[in-house]
Parts: sequence; C-alpha cells; structure tokens
Amino acid sequence: MNTAHLTLDPHFTVGPINRRLFGSFVEHLGRCVYDGIYEPGHATADSEGFREDVIALVQELGVSAIRYPGGNFVSGFRWEDSVGPREDRPVRLDLAWHSTETNQVGLHEFSSWLEKVGSEFMLAVNLGTRGTLEALDLLEYTNIDKGTALADRRMGNGKADPFGVKMWCLGNEMDGPWQLGHRSAEDYGKLASQTAKAMRQLDPSVELVACGSSSAAMPTFGEWERTVLTHAYDDVDYISCHAYYEEKNGDLGSFLASAVDMDRFIESVVATADHVKAVRGSTKTINISFDEWNVWYIERYHGVDKIEGIDNWPVAPRLLEDRYSVADAVVFGNLLISLLKHADRVTSASLAQLVNVIAPIMTEPGGPAWRQTTFYPFALTSRLAQGSVLEVKLNAGTYDTAVYGNVPLVDAVATHDADAGTAAVFLVNRSQTEEATVTIDAAGLESLRLVDAQTLSDDDVYAANTLAEPERVGLAPNSSASLSGDTITVTLPPVSWTALSLAR
Ligand code: AHR
Repeated sequence: MNTAHLTLDPHFTVGPINRRLFGSFVEHLGRCVYDGIYEPGHATADSEGFREDVIALVQELGVSAIRYPGGNFVSGFRWEDSVGPREDRPVRLDLAWHSTETNQVGLHEFSSWLEKVGSEFMLAVNLGTRGTLEALDLLEYTNIDKGTALADRRMGNGKADPFGVKMWCLGNEMDGPWQLGHRSAEDYGKLASQTAKAMRQLDPSVELVACGSSSAAMPTFGEWERTVLTHAYDDVDYISCHAYYEEKNGDLGSFLASAVDMDRFIESVVATADHVKAVRGSTKTINISFDEWNVWYIERYHGVDKIEGIDNWPVAPRLLEDRYSVADAVVFGNLLISLLKHADRVTSASLAQLVNVIAPIMTEPGGPAWRQTTFYPFALTSRLAQGSVLEVKLNAGTYDTAVYGNVPLVDAVATHDADAGTAAVFLVNRSQTEEATVTIDAAGLESLRLVDAQTLSDDDVYAANTLAEPERVGLAPNSSASLSGDTITVTLPPVSWTALSLAR
C-alpha cells in the first residue's frame, strides 16, 4: 500500500512566496528569440514582429521576471550591437552556440515585448569577455534618467524613460570551462565584488546575483560558492544555482527523484552562504537566485544537436528543442515543489527556458504554438501558489534509487494566503506501479472548502505534445479528491503531479 499523510497548519510557515520564484529565461539561443517570440512574417505577428499567440501563452503561463540575454550567449555579447537603428546593427558570430546573431531583437525590442507579456526585466552583464566598465555603461544606458551620454543615447533610440532594471546577474556560469572567459573562483569573486561595488555606486537600488555553480556535480561545487562569497559577500544579494535533470540509462526511478537532489543542492548552498556569514560576523543574509532549472536532455545536445565547422554559423538553428513527456512534467512539477519548500531562501528562480529551447512553449515557423507537458504544472503552480509556504509534515513510504538512495514515494508542499482565504497543495507520486492514497489533515485551515483537484498523468509516461498532436497530454480533474470534516483524501495515479485548491 502506497499511502502518505500530510498535516497543514497555517501557524507554521516556511516564508512568504516571492513572485520572482516564477521567473523564466529568454536567451539568444536556437529559436528562442527568432522564430520563437519574434517572427515578423507570422500570421499573428503584431506591428513589432512579435507573435501574439506566443504572448498569450506566456501570459497564461504566469511568468514573473525574465532573465535575458543569456546564458552562455551573454559571455560574448556586446550590448551596444543590439540598440540603435536595426539596419546599422552588426551581424556577429555567437561562439557559445556556434550561430549567427543578427541583433534584430535587442534591449529595446525585448523590453517592449516584456511590457506586452507583463513580466519584469532581469539582465545579465558580460563578465566573460568584458568587464566592469561595460557593465557600468549598460547600467547607465538602462537606468539613468537623462543628461548623460548613454542615457541620452537611449532616449535617442526611442526610449524616453529608463528601463529601470532591478535584477542583474554578474556574468553567467563563470565556473564552467565551456564559458567564454571562464575564471577561477578567486578571480571571479574579485571581479564580481569590484563590478557590484561600481554598479551600486551608479544605482544603489540594483539587486545583484553572483554566479554560483553551474551544477552541484561541478568538481568545484561548494568551494566555489565559499570563495566567491568570501570576496563578494557584502556587495551582492544573491548567489545563483543552476540545475538540469534528465533520465539517464533508462533509470526512471532515479529520474523521478530528481527533486531530492535539488533539495540537497539548495540546502548545501544555504549552508555555505551561512558559513561565510558566520565567519564574517555579518548580519546580512544571502539568498538564492535559482536562475536556471529544468529537465534537459543535455546528452542529446552534445551527441546530435551541436553545430561545428568554420563555415557553418546558422541563424536561429533548431537547438535544444527537447520534447517533454508526462514523466518529465512530473519531475518538473516536483522541482517547483522543491523551490517552494525553500521559499525562505530561494527568493528568485528562472525556468530555463521559455520558448522552443528546453521550453514549455513550442512554435512552428508560419505555424501554430503549443503547450508542452511542462507548461501545465508551471502555469497552475504560478496561479495557485499565493501567500506563504506552509511547513508541511509529510509521512510517506520510500523506495530505493540507484542515484539518490532511499527516497520518499510522495512529495508535497502547501501554500496559504490568509488574506485571500485560499490554499493549495501540490503533490507528486513517484511510484511507477502503485497509486498513492494521501490523507491531508487540514484542521488548521478552518472553513476552507475543496474547490478543485487537477492531475497530470497518463498510462504512457512517455506521452508528449507535438506539432501533430499538440493536446495529447494535459491536466484532468481528479475526481477522487474529497473533503470530509477536516480531512482531505486524494488518490494519486502512478507517476503523477497533482494540484489541489481550497478557498473560503
Ligand atoms: O539554458 C541553456 C544553457 O545552460 C545556458 O546558456 C547556460 O547558462 C547553461 O549551461
């Protein structure tokens, strides 16, 4: 019997939910920008060339801040190329993805698109092949009102008001040997500190993210964070985490437990940041910007997709176009549960990425846009997770995995908005063979009634949505959910993700 029991008590909270937890990421990579959000010839294109069908899906997804323009791309990016009259913008080689960058979409166009979708601008500066001065120039261009060379240049380029960007990443994955301008932790920590100090001299209101590790599997993980923060602790607000998961060697059991790894990753980075805090005797707390997370079949990129050759630099090639299955969406929904469980310290996160590139939204040039399986847990979690995260007491059975040891069969988190009188519970069943019967003691949530229960599952855990069959997988009402007295009971199918919503 696969059973689990949860107790919800609004007196015990992890912390408030920062809307930035539901951020995403648009990189100049593959068809994310060109033929993704931007396709001037498309039937739904608006006057600026942005696809309105994609805009509608991004709004439905409910994404807060969107990180831009990379990723690895940013380490070769000259921001000046992307502003001014389009016909004057240079065409450049993008060394990170072995592609051609036309610069037809740049800072102004992206900011205009963000206004349409209703999301916040989050920018990364190039600390790979550029440095502090170029970061300052970009900040002057985006955030100074008027009366300086670069603020006036922005105004001349058609944007009277500053962009007012608050969230800034100090480079991207500087620990990775693949990164243009990759550095040691010592060198990066000094550069991040120096750049952060200078940026704050220009605009004290910016929130700054230092690069943490590209994954918890990096050989420098832990020591990287300690060294970088030892140099930059007083100057930054966040340390970043990046994590991608995939099913390897047909080991679905381990893959389904990926969120266990994310939990450990977050807790290790928190411990390291707090160690530096203790050593410095600081009263300031560094939080986490989990600014790249997703399921990504990265081995496919290295084996099939990778572009090479000195005469081969395509524009907007099909890169990293992973097709997500039901199992992928269950793991993905569980990663969201992990982020929420740590909402006291993970106060910003970016789903990598948004359109076509390891994305919840896919498009076909001249054709439709559709929702991948992963779209559903993100959209529903973003909509229902309001107020604060509750400290859920969970008792569940366990199973053995080859990669993560003995792990719970069921994982869950709950949220509660006292003012609105709403609550939500998000659950996964990791068992491949058995349903899970979950009982939830909701006595603390007096007088809330069960409004809805939606589950994502399928007899074929590898079923996916495609161009040919865009609505093969979706959410379905879970009719097993019921509230009797103070107890909610729900049955979770094998390999499934479920959201329960409650209201007054
Ligand atoms: O999201 C794809 C890539 O993954 C990003 O460009 C990089 O930062 C990471 O390695």
